[in-house]
Amino acid sequence: MPQPPSSLQLGGSLLTKSPKQARGTAQRPEWFGYYAGYSTSFVDEALTYLNLDQDARVLDPWNGSGTTTDVVERRGFHGVGYDLNPAVVIVARARLLRSDVRPSHRSLGKVIVRDSARLAAADFLDGEPLSAWFSPKAAAALRGIERAIQRDLISPTEYVRIAAKGSLSDISPLAAYYYVALFRTVRRLLAGFKTSNPTWTRFPESPRHRLRPSTQVIHAAFDEEVERMFMGIEEAPAVTSSAQVDLGDSTSIKLGRHEVDAVVSSPPYCTRIDYAVSMRPELAVLGMTALEFRALRLSMLGCTILGAASTSTAVPDDWGASCAQLLDGIRRHPSHGSASYYYPTHVNYFASLFASYAEIARVLRPGGRAILVVQDSYYKELHTDLQAVTSQMCQGLGLTLELRRDYSSRNTKAAVNTRRLKYRNTADATESVLVFSRS
Ligand SMILES: C[S@@+](CC[C@H](N)C(=O)[O-])C[C@H]1O[C@@H](n2cnc3c(N)ncnc32)[C@H](O)[C@@H]1O
Repeated sequence: MPQPPSSLQLGGSLLTKSPKQARGTAQRPEWFGYYAGYSTSFVDEALTYLNLDQDARVLDPWNGSGTTTDVVERRGFHGVGYDLNPAVVIVARARLLRSDVRPSHRSLGKVIVRDSARLAAADFLDGEPLSAWFSPKAAAALRGIERAIQRDLISPTEYVRIAAKGSLSDISPLAAYYYVALFRTVRRLLAGFKTSNPTWTRFPESPRHRLRPSTQVIHAAFDEEVERMFMGIEEAPAVTSSAQVDLGDSTSIKLGRHEVDAVVSSPPYCTRIDYAVSMRPELAVLGMTALEFRALRLSMLGCTILGAASTSTAVPDDWGASCAQLLDGIRRHPSHGSASYYYPTHVNYFASLFASYAEIARVLRPGGRAILVVQDSYYKELHTDLQAVTSQMCQGLGLTLELRRDYSSRNTKAAVNTRRLKYRNTADATESVLVFSRS
């Protein structure tokens, strides 16, 4: 049965609040506090606007820390969320934990710590990634906790590096929850390596400068994070989560044609945020090797490094006039690196963005709608009008723009990078909600 039309819809005033507003204030404390494109209240409002049938499937192909799938499931719809970064997929899976948490789960943290003691072997993993920051003994204690989570909650017999897995669907929300507690423990121990750039965690100057917390300190920190997170779990009505939250690439979505009723999402913006770099400590917890890390970075939208395959020069017509004009401007720009580095990285970004929009159009059922939050930015003085680019790309793919709402956003990465202001007077950006319907 369709839900009754909401007052928001009748009043025609979709999304009166900025997508970013109320971030972290809605519902439970942010124990999953990683970069999120928008707030839970935004997704809530978007779902009300969409007026979906109760058995509707809602997709987020850039699910990040899982704001969309969390809210979609709370509202009783079926959430499908994909992301390439295994660390955020784990966070998104942990967020599906509801009142199926029993008091006994609280003490599981103690069991994990106890079991970790005999699993804390040095050099268990070749080239232990955690030893980039921690002494061998401390890295082994942290790895011991990770191995105990696997042994107690995933498989009693077999250890598999999470970073090497093709799917994370066998990691229950409960196991994912203890992984998040371990992520938080590592972050906490790394506090001294934080920099003014929130996406960058410094490395020690030499192996001598690595951290050497005692096993006792590590265990106490883990215990405390588990406790804190438990306090944040609300008593939601018991619902068996049907969500599909897994690894997946937006340029080849693992769904058939017309399989979803709606999309609510926010693509990576053209602002050079490297989502893999920002989660390097969490990826180290998952045992990610340097090679895998580079491959992950290269596969992500908005990647700031150039791979061997980055030689594309021709701009296809179906990317639209705004995109073609911008790319031409970047290619001809007199500033250093414009033609040799910034042009190909932008071409890569728009190629993946277009491929992702084509996938959204493919999996969305006729009559279905996609709500996309996008933000503009600048390359030097050239305006990257992601709203226009998105509208033009989507139009050619059978997605018609039904509604647009703009919000001014001062809190952009450019605002903290004063060098960029050489080319223009303001660090303001416009964040927009674009609603498309599929013909
Ligand atoms: C803007 S964030 C999404 C934020 C998300 N809507 C939220 O509220 O948490 C972009 C996400 O896209 C992911 N990503 C980048 N390239 C991707 C790709 N090709 N396929 C799937 N996810 C990708 C990044 O790992 C990052 O988590």
